[in-house]
Amino acid sequence: MHRFALKKGRLWCEGVAVDRVADALGTPLYLYSFQTLLDHYRKLEKAFSSAGALICFAVKANGNLAILKALAQAGSGFDVVSGGELRKALLAGAAPQKIVYASVGKTDREIELALRSRVLFFNVESAMELEVLEAACRRLKRRQRVCLRLNPGVQADTHAYISTGQPASKFGMGLSTVESLFKRHREFPHLDLAGIHLHIGSQILEAAPFAAAIAKAIGLAKKARRWGVAIRYLNIGGGLGIVYHRETPQTAQAFASRILPLIKNSSLKLILEPGRFIAGNSGVLLTRVVTLKENGRKRFAVVDAGMNDLIRPSLYGAYHEMVLSGGAARRPRLRYDVVGPVCESGDFFAKDRLLPRLTRGDLLAILGAGAYGFAMSSNYNARPRAAEVMVRGRRWFVIRRRETFQDLVRGERLPPFLQ
Ligand code: LLP
Repeated sequence: MHRFALKKGRLWCEGVAVDRVADALGTPLYLYSFQTLLDHYRKLEKAFSSAGALICFAVKANGNLAILKALAQAGSGFDVVSGGELRKALLAGAAPQKIVYASVGKTDREIELALRSRVLFFNVESAMELEVLEAACRRLKRRQRVCLRLNPGVQADTHAYISTGQPASKFGMGLSTVESLFKRHREFPHLDLAGIHLHIGSQILEAAPFAAAIAKAIGLAKKARRWGVAIRYLNIGGGLGIVYHRETPQTAQAFASRILPLIKNSSLKLILEPGRFIAGNSGVLLTRVVTLKENGRKRFAVVDAGMNDLIRPSLYGAYHEMVLSGGAARRPRLRYDVVGPVCESGDFFAKDRLLPRLTRGDLLAILGAGAYGFAMSSNYNARPRAAEVMVRGRRWFVIRRRETFQDLVRGERLPPFLQ
C-alpha cells in the first residue's frame, strides 16, 4: 500500500497534486510520501514486535536526512556501510546504540569513527577485518560488540547483481571460516562476538531462502555457544521484496510468521536491515516529456530525467511502473521506449511500454523510486542532481534543493600551468 493515487487522471501524493510541485520546482524531481514511509516501517515493527526485534533502516536505500530523521523519530535504528552514512545517521539524530555498521572494506578512519561513536554492532566480513578491529579496540581502549557475517551459501531468486548469499560472492564468510573465528574467540579480548549476521540479497519475494539461511545460522550459534561464545543476536539483514510490477511479495506479517518460530527457542534477539521495503514505494521520480521521435519502427519519448537520476532500469533491467499525470482521458494508448537524454543506449526507463499518447511537456511519474533512486544518482553528463520533496498530508517540503551549475564545479581546480 502506498499513498499515491490517480484521481480523474491527476496523480496525487497524500493530499498534494504532484503537478503543482512539479510546476513550482521543475523536473526531474523526487517526491516522497511521509505517511507511506512510516506505514511501511510500522508494518515491519508490528510484525516483529512480539520478538522485540530491532529494525535498522538500510541508509544506502535512501540517505536523505529528512527520511532518516522521520524514521529515527519513529524509533528506527540504522544499518550503515560507510563513514559518510554513519555520520548522516548521527546527524539525523539516530541513537548510536541502534546503529549497525557493515561493509566489506572498512578503512582505519571509518573503524575509528564507528568505535568512537559507540555503535551497537560491527558486522565483520573477514578474518583480517576482525584482527584489525581487535587491534583498533586495544589502541582506543574500547570493547566492541561484533556480528560475524555468515555467507550461508543459499541462492535467492533475484537479479545476480543484488544476490549476495551464494558461495562465490564477495560478501561475508563461509561457514568454516566463521566457525574457526568463533573457536578463536579468546584471541579477541576486546571484541564481544555476540552475534551472527546474514544478508542473502535484495528484492526477495518469499521467506524460503531466508528460512534456509536462518536455519544455518542457528546451527552455528548452537555450536559457538558450546565453544564458549555468548551469542545473543541474529541479524537477518534486509532483502524483503516489494511490488514494482506484478510481483506478489509476502506481507510483513506473513514473513514474520515464517521467521519467528525458527528463532523462538534460540534466545536470540533479532535485528533486521530493511531498505527497499520501507522506502521503495514511498517515492516517485517526476519527469517531463522533452521530445518525441520515431526511429525505424520504434517510438521514443525522451524525458528530462536520465539514468544519472535513476539507474535501476539501466543497471538491472528493472521494471518501474510509469503513470501519466494530467490529460490521460480519452487518449489512445501507444507503445513507447521512454528514454533519458544521457549519451548511452542504456539510458532508458521503459521499453515498448503502453502509455496514453504523449505530448511534449507531459508529466510522468516513475513509481517505486524511493529506494536506490536518488541514492544511486550521479552527475554524469554534467547533469545537476534532482531536488527531493517530502509530502505530508496537504503540505510539501523541499528536503534537498536541486543542484546548480556551481555545485557541479565546486571542488574542481585548475593547476597553475593552465591558469
Ligand atoms: N543489509 C545489507 C548488508 C545490505 O547489503 C543491503 C543491501 C541491505 C541490508 C538492504 O537491502 P534491502 O532491504 O533494501 O533489499 N541497488 C540495488 C539494491 C542493492 C542492495 C545492496 N544491499 C537495487 O536498486 O535493487
